Amino acid sequence: MNALPSVDEPVVPPTAKEKRTLLMAQARAALAKVFEVPNLTYVQRLAHAKTINQSLAKLEYQDGAAQLSCRPLTNKDFFAMLELFSGYGLATGFYTNATLLAPDKVDRIIRMGIQQVNISIDGATAATFEAIRHHANFDVVVRNARHLVARRRELGAPTPRLQIAMVLMRENLHELPDLVRLAADLGADSVYTMFVSDLVPDQMCEREPTRANATLREARRVAAELKIRLQCPDYLPEHATAEAAAARETVVPAMPASGCLCSHPWQQFVVWNDGNVSPCCRIRDDVDGEKFGSIHDAEPEQLWNSPGFVRLRERLAARNPPHACQVCPIRTVAMH
Ligand SMILES: C[S@@+](CC[C@H](N)C(=O)[O-])C[C@H]1O[C@@H](n2cnc3c(N)ncnc32)[C@H](O)[C@@H]1O
Ligand code: SF4
Repeated sequence: MNALPSVDEPVVPPTAKEKRTLLMAQARAALAKVFEVPNLTYVQRLAHAKTINQSLAKLEYQDGAAQLSCRPLTNKDFFAMLELFSGYGLATGFYTNATLLAPDKVDRIIRMGIQQVNISIDGATAATFEAIRHHANFDVVVRNARHLVARRRELGAPTPRLQIAMVLMRENLHELPDLVRLAADLGADSVYTMFVSDLVPDQMCEREPTRANATLREARRVAAELKIRLQCPDYLPEHATAEAAAARETVVPAMPASGCLCSHPWQQFVVWNDGNVSPCCRIRDDVDGEKFGSIHDAEPEQLWNSPGFVRLRERLAARNPPHACQVCPIRTVAMH
């Protein structure tokens, strides 16, 4: 039997759909490999990935695809970003809701040498947690957190440390001691809590300072008993009222005896999902119009002294904090 087409058979040109299918397959393969191509800088790879991704997005749109391989670039870059920063020898960590922190990603995170994974769990029960984090599933998050610790132990790896982060609000405050118990049970290394910001005024703990302080005291007691590190905000002034909470907007914090108003701009930077950097999650793009910059445009060491970082450090050192720092609930003066 002859497998070759007969010379008499007409050659049928591929249809537009067939051409598109071929191009999509090529684009998907190229996208999967773009971060393995040697001798390219990270920024070059990113530019390359972006171009391919844009073409793929267009093809998938023309094809009417419902399941997409193209990605918002940020998601596609997540591991590459982690690799970039850990590759620089920087202590790298990230915050996650852990919904997608499935076992297949965990080994990669452990092997990459990521120092700390912060998993946000804003409640110690499924009911509270799921009322706050819509569409999240408490059991999935807890299972993923447990797996991270188990796998780290199996591999004998010292990191990543697991920190459970809880944003304290009136709705979940009463569950903080149980959250500390849950974190200890998960094998977490620490618990980090902060008061919800004034973006959610009704939920601010400043509206119930006595209850908030009693809960913080109890949580500290539980943490000491279970020997788990707990980082809590300071106790609230108990005379605070709803009006006082609102007045926090105008309060300039007392300066520490030595050092600058906040240590964050001296010791870390946050990378946002669009590649922009900033010193913390309370300040986004710039200070006085001076930009912090983006990993798409500059290498980390340049960003570290970008005009935005320099301006912010100058203002904090001169005891002239920008508004965001004056009302910041996560400000810290301790270098760690
Ligand atoms: C950039 S955010 C979120 C990152 C990630 N998607 C997550 O869920 O953890 C980092 C931390 O800030 C907390 N956070 C979010 N909104 C907040 C608010 N209004 N006040 C205080 N903390 C907040 C989150 O819960 C999380 O622990
Ligand atoms: S005070 Fe708050 S907003 Fe200002 S740099 Fe520190 S953490 Fe960021």
